[in-house]
Amino acid sequence: MGGLRARRSVLAVPGSNPRFVEKARGLDADAFFLDLEDAVAPAEKEAARATVVAALNDGGWGDRVRTVRVNDASTAWAYRDVIEVVEGAGANLDALVLPKVTAARDVQWLDTLLTQIERAVGLPVGRIGIEAQIEDAGGLTRVEEIAASSPRLETLVYGPADFMASLNMKTLVVGEQPPGYDTGDAYHYVLMRILTAARAHGLQAIDGPYLQIRDVDAFRRAAGRTAALGFDGKWVLHPLQVEAANEAFAPSQEDYDHAELILDAYAHATEVERRGAVMLGEEMLDEASRKMALVIAGKGRAAGL
Ligand code: GLV
Ligand code: MG
Repeated sequence: MGGLRARRSVLAVPGSNPRFVEKARGLDADAFFLDLEDAVAPAEKEAARATVVAALNDGGWGDRVRTVRVNDASTAWAYRDVIEVVEGAGANLDALVLPKVTAARDVQWLDTLLTQIERAVGLPVGRIGIEAQIEDAGGLTRVEEIAASSPRLETLVYGPADFMASLNMKTLVVGEQPPGYDTGDAYHYVLMRILTAARAHGLQAIDGPYLQIRDVDAFRRAAGRTAALGFDGKWVLHPLQVEAANEAFAPSQEDYDHAELILDAYAHATEVERRGAVMLGEEMLDEASRKMALVIAGKGRAAGL
């Protein structure tokens, strides 16, 4: 996972709308996906492929992670989405987002198709990654096999809207607790299953969208919760959410500085003093402290702190 790039904020951009695509170039998101799935009306889906290919080839994306969300493997659109986008712009594409993944076979289908296209058009085989959205009961039930399904997999992405619908949750507000459930966090189980499956296979875990786009404080609270659990980033739908996500998924400067201090102190203790445990101020450090500090330092370095 250390080799994977920062995805604190992952900007959703409707692939059928060149105006939104243009706007997205100016936003400070770590990653973006040009959507061919749920933000594109069925009548626009085929034409949107050409818009997406042009947007990737026109460039101007800096070092952002460039991805496209194709339609899910059960649809009539999926195979042509992949073929047109990868044949047309594969060299300017970092990963495909596959929605509604319900089993390992969905990811393996995409992996095989990608390999065929890469061979056919002379792209390096295996460079284009896959991001799997876990967003229904079937996907969550098989999340471990999905996480292990392909070396192309880079992230597991929680899709709260489809997931809430899939469970028949009695609510209309995506990302908030369902009214009437006041005994804890209704999403803790799903988030922890996705996170542990991702970590067990060296993948990033990304939280999905928060749809009340004008309520930035509520977005900050939602992002803060999944960041605290260990998620790497969150989808953003609006310029106001970008900075909030970049902040929420990076450590504070104070924590980052402290983590670097722990790493230095522990390296000195083990390498110079040959001791496995050492005091730093009032705090006792051992090998597990080093690992925790490495996580925070890694997030801070990726965020440029
Ligand atoms: C995202 O795709 C979601 O369903 O929340
Ligand atoms: Mg969805």
